[in-house]
Amino acid sequence: MARGELGTAIANIKQHGTISAMGILVIGNWKMNPGSRKDALKLIKLFNAACAKNKNISAVIAPPFPYLSLVTPKKQLKLCAQSFDVEMPLTGGISIPMLKDLKVSYVIVGHSERRAHGETDTQIGVKVTVATQGALKVVVCVGEKERDHSGKYFGTVEAQVLAALKNVTRSQLVNIVIAYEPIWAISSGDGRGETATPDTAHEMKLFIQKVLVGKYGRAAALRVPIIYGGSVNPENASALLGGEVDGFLVGGASIKADAFISILKTAAAYGKK
Ligand code: PGA
Repeated sequence: MARGELGTAIANIKQHGTISAMGILVIGNWKMNPGSRKDALKLIKLFNAACAKNKNISAVIAPPFPYLSLVTPKKQLKLCAQSFDVEMPLTGGISIPMLKDLKVSYVIVGHSERRAHGETDTQIGVKVTVATQGALKVVVCVGEKERDHSGKYFGTVEAQVLAALKNVTRSQLVNIVIAYEPIWAISSGDGRGETATPDTAHEMKLFIQKVLVGKYGRAAALRVPIIYGGSVNPENASALLGGEVDGFLVGGASIKADAFISILKTAAAYGKK
């Protein structure tokens, strides 16, 4: 899409605003951390204590599979799986019913690290379909590898969104969250890589909304939370929320209790505005 056309489309969405009624969604993607069950229990204890102390905060955490059962999900602390499988039989596979049995309510699909390991747009589309049919909330990750001056990355993100949602109906859209995670902004584990500016995140949110409006119509499309991921940390969280994203997918900073709790407090304060 040419930048001029994008500007018009975005102005159109801006005029109508977002009608997302939910608060700020903060998801902690632990990836392959921490290295022991003991340390996982420590983190969970600290997050539970933070929730008990501050009723305004709420979090979704995505521990590795072996630690999912260590969490008792509650209103302020929901569970997310980092992945799952659809093929059967598959040695080492994890199914949606297994996750539901553990009271998991969100799953991440299409994370760039999985895409880099060969997950295709088609496979991502199938996974999104299976997870939405299983009534789980699906966090669909999209994002370009790099940026160029001609704006080609908008086309990349559009294609990822449309492939992931290929079989998702308008009524199933309530279970979709889109995480815009530009690969160039994802940290190497400390939450301190290059970060998108609030304006960059805002512009991409509006663009994704435009794509969704084209497929589902305004009312359903503008209810889909569009969150940002890529080096979110306590120092940049507040500014990024100024870009009107609906929340964060946090990697590196989500396994540092103080940092994650600080982001949760920032989100809670922002959500109340
Ligand atoms: P990061 O990771 O916050 O460490 O950049 C985000 C992600 O990969 O989801």
